Amino acid sequence: MTRADVLTVRTLMPGDEQRFLTLRSAITHEGAIFAKDYPPGISWPEYLAIQDNARSGVGLPPGAVPYTFLVADLGGVLVGSSDIRHRLTEKLTRWGGHIGYVVAPQYRRRGYGTEILRQTLSLATGLGIRPALLTCRADNAGSRGVIHNVGSVVSTETIDGICSYWM
Ligand SMILES: CC(C)(COP(=O)(O)OP(=O)(O)OC[C@H]1O[C@@H](n2cnc3c(N)ncnc32)[C@H](O)[C@@H]1OP(=O)(O)O)[C@@H](O)C(=O)NCCC(=O)NCCS
Repeated sequence: MTRADVLTVRTLMPGDEQRFLTLRSAITHEGAIFAKDYPPGISWPEYLAIQDNARSGVGLPPGAVPYTFLVADLGGVLVGSSDIRHRLTEKLTRWGGHIGYVVAPQYRRRGYGTEILRQTLSLATGLGIRPALLTCRADNAGSRGVIHNVGSVVSTETIDGICSYWM
């Protein structure tokens, strides 16, 4: 990132609908799942209410834990997102961990992933999540680079190539 770039990781706001849809389209275009709690046709205020409820653990599907969905705002453009899962389940302990993140393909390799994880970890600490568990496939060089930049080393690697990090 250059010094002129100011990236802020934050929750969604009332004026974000178009920016969110643009980000969603860029990320789903490469086949990734993004904001799976966003049902087609929902109004923006309804979606913001789903987000509020998810943070407080209201109306979650069976097995889901409270979560916070965050977007990375770079001067009014959403370049990526992250999720904080407020607690671990057995499944999340094996894969997923407390935090996930993604950068839209056209904005990768500019340091945004690293900055998103740094700020998301700080927000997770504010929620009482410390240490935070991150998981990543051993062959995901980008994600490993992000985790390495933020300052962690792998604590375990499973036989099927899933690395876990406590940060
Ligand atoms: C992983 C991801 C978030 C990285 O985002 P990013 O903005 O490109 O990350 P950064 O620019 O901060 O890069 C971090 C480091 O990884 C390196 N890196 C990034 N992508 C890389 C790649 N494809 N191959 C090799 N190294 C890579 C960068 O060079 C950088 O290293 P450096 O600081 O030594 O130069 C992005 O590739 C992505 O969204 N991938 C799909 C979703 C995903 O895999 N999420 C993580 C799930 S565990």
